[in-house]
Amino acid sequence: MSLIIEDLHVESSGREILRGIDLEVKEGETHIIVGPNGAGKSSLLYTIAGIPKYVVKKGRIILNSEDITRLQPHERVRRGLCLMHQFQPQIKTIKVSDLENILISKFGINELAVKAREILEIDNLRNRYLFTNMSGGERKRLELYLTLLTNPKIVLLDEPDSGVDVDSLVKISEVINLIISSSLTCILVTHRGDIVNMLRKVDRVHVMCNGKIVESNGKDMLDRVLKSGFRKICERLRDKRE
Ligand SMILES: Nc1ncnc2c1ncn2[C@@H]1O[C@H](COP(=O)(O)OP(=O)(O)OP(=O)(O)O)[C@@H](O)[C@H]1O
Ligand SMILES: [Mg+2]
Repeated sequence: MSLIIEDLHVESSGREILRGIDLEVKEGETHIIVGPNGAGKSSLLYTIAGIPKYVVKKGRIILNSEDITRLQPHERVRRGLCLMHQFQPQIKTIKVSDLENILISKFGINELAVKAREILEIDNLRNRYLFTNMSGGERKRLELYLTLLTNPKIVLLDEPDSGVDVDSLVKISEVINLIISSSLTCILVTHRGDIVNMLRKVDRVHVMCNGKIVESNGKDMLDRVLKSGFRKICERLRDKRE
């Protein structure tokens, strides 16, 4: 499933957050997005997923040649697009197994989710209330599994690695590698190079600053950027605007 984003301008709570994003992700490609806190990375993923408070003022989102800019989130999920959120809400009234059963009855069971359930050790979490009192690593493992239960063709992963210990990181990267080898399309937001170095294939790395993609390049760029920080690269954008 391919994704094309054209000149995307987005506001939320009356504030301009994305200022002209262009991005093309071909079917089966894995793209990484990095950038400083507040650059707009999560907002971009929320907008692609159709979260209503991110209002598209200009531009288009094209999924497999279809303009999905105005579609509701559930219509996008039905087409195979699914977001793993950066933060998970604690829902004290729904058990993991209840949501799991609902998703399986809606989307069927798929091989990737079955493998992920084992790798991510979900059985220990099935009796718990959704994300309630779970550790950071448990929440990330569960969210990744639930994302895969919607049988996605394109997955948006917002910091699947933040706050997780090294053993969980290995499990999470193993599942992302299954996503990659299943030829799903993948966009992954991260602050860390170690998860990227664990992936079997990375097609493109993008740097976001202040609501824009300021540089797109191969994986080598990531080491350089993570070593030298974002300041210089983001200042170049400011200089261009002045
Ligand atoms: N609903 C909203 N209303 C107002 N401002 C928002 C909203 N959502 C995001 N923002 C602002 O937009 C900017 C981008 O936020 P976003 O969460 O997308 O950044 P990010 O790149 O994901 O940062 P981080 O690396 O910290 O997760 C921030 O300044 C944030 O405060
Ligand atoms: Mg974020």
